[in-house]
Amino acid sequence: MLILALDVVDHERALKVAKDTAEFVSAIKVNYPLVLTAGVDVISELSEIRPVIADFKIADIPYTSGLIAKIVFEKGVRAVIAHGFVGRDTLQEVRRVASDYDGEVYVVTELSSTGGKEFMSEHALEIAKLAESVGCDGLIAPATRPDRIRAVKSAAPSLKVLCPGVGAQGGSVEDVMKAGADAIIVGRAIYNSPDPRESARRYFEELRSVREKI
Ligand code: C5P
Repeated sequence: MLILALDVVDHERALKVAKDTAEFVSAIKVNYPLVLTAGVDVISELSEIRPVIADFKIADIPYTSGLIAKIVFEKGVRAVIAHGFVGRDTLQEVRRVASDYDGEVYVVTELSSTGGKEFMSEHALEIAKLAESVGCDGLIAPATRPDRIRAVKSAAPSLKVLCPGVGAQGGSVEDVMKAGADAIIVGRAIYNSPDPRESARRYFEELRSVREKI
């Protein structure tokens, strides 16, 4: 499965990239850069093209976290991403709100950047187990470190694992899928390419051929 990370900062460009790549993309991940420039209603517009995952990395007290989740589910998102380091109470509240909308919750175990190794990596497996015990749907694990994908997968085998870090951050589709990922999340390598549709098509085809080999 290919998920587009749509971190562009222009409303029209976001809609164009989303439409151009829609045939090859299973979901669109929206993060702060787009919503802070185009406004939160862009979520509803994108939801008409493909299911939207709101990547606001929710990391607050349960009340505030639940409120953030409620606002974006009201705008039509299919799933939200929360940080796991915030602990059980916040994840439970985000899960509760998501369930009201039949929505999904994905939990970050560690960032794909180098800094993800500084503090988060040490607790990533506990976070994975917590997410599973709270009834979340999946984890966000680093495509840049396939060994970590394997580790969280074995800590929480019932959860899906979505992996950002392919392309611009250096992760390879083959390594990530062999490590057990359920989806790759690709941003700059698609939307910054001269032909985003063609780039999305290539990732889509690569995913298919890697899956046939595994
Ligand atoms: O452009 P690129 O493909 O690197 O985009 C990756 C996207 O995934 C960004 O939106 C980034 O915030 C997000 N992300 C990540 N690593 C995580 C969690 C989310 O790169 N662990």
